[in-house]
Amino acid sequence: MGPLPLFPQEASSFAPDVDHLLYYLLAVAVFFTVGIFLTIFYFAIRYRRRSDKELPRFVHTGMTLEIVWSVIPFGLAMVMFTWGASIFFNEGRPPADAIPIYVVGKQWMWKLQHIEGQREIDELHIPVGRPVRLTMTSEDVIHSFYVPAFRTKEDVVPGRYSTTWFTPTKPGKYHLFCAEYCGTNHSRMIGWIYVMQPQDYQNWLNGGSASGSMADSGQKLFQSLACGNCHHPDGRGRCPSLVGLYGSDVLLSNGATVKADDSYIRESILQPDAQIVAGYQPIMPTFQGLVTEEGVVQLIEYVKSLGKPGPPVTATPQQVTAPHR
Ligand code: CUA
Repeated sequence: MGPLPLFPQEASSFAPDVDHLLYYLLAVAVFFTVGIFLTIFYFAIRYRRRSDKELPRFVHTGMTLEIVWSVIPFGLAMVMFTWGASIFFNEGRPPADAIPIYVVGKQWMWKLQHIEGQREIDELHIPVGRPVRLTMTSEDVIHSFYVPAFRTKEDVVPGRYSTTWFTPTKPGKYHLFCAEYCGTNHSRMIGWIYVMQPQDYQNWLNGGSASGSMADSGQKLFQSLACGNCHHPDGRGRCPSLVGLYGSDVLLSNGATVKADDSYIRESILQPDAQIVAGYQPIMPTFQGLVTEEGVVQLIEYVKSLGKPGPPVTATPQQVTAPHR
């Protein structure tokens, strides 16, 4: 591979799919471009005007020809559409067993967290052959997480989570780029993805200097922000209990029901008034500016770790301990 390869390496399970579609698009484009230009030259010579008085013979439209040159391009375009859409939907649906990685983009770096607690900047270590799901947001402006070798590019947008996933297929070191112009040092917002053998990855995970899992960090944050003063685990507080919340259906005061997913929990922390749980008052203050996006995803992991609703917990809020996974 030279410094400017025509095609980047194929290092994810998506890469061959995307490349095959690209080859098809190229083949169709080249075939018709060459065909049209050759026809133009041939007709220009074959039907050139031979004398000033010469008038062309009137030609009636042929219905068969009209149908043929409408139906064939329609078919070719529909192949592009269905093929492209199937890859697009596949890239949008991470499998349930994917390794979760949280990504926060900010001017001008990538901050990545593993749920085991490891945090990285402009580097991501992942094992080969396992699907990896990225949950991404931005601390400031729009960025875009782009790994050419994985044929993965997903915008990272402030104020919301975007998700993508891939299965790396070859151990190695691959470029990570920011692919959305995001200010002065956009071109330096780059990094490396290290795809490791599973055992090496395990050693890397164990060897890090992580201070507890993301859920542990989230629990510390939960305590330092005094969230437990209102969110009693037994449900008798002024705010709803968070035990068993993650993934459940929440009935809102307006009668609607929402799924308590990452986005719902994020919004509940930063814009608590947006969706009020039925039976509760809109008394929660916003934590916008008090907790970073990295903190928010730690809180989400903490809420996740609270698991399913169980017997009432009677500990005081400061002593709440999360059942660890
Ligand atoms: Cu971040 Cu460009």
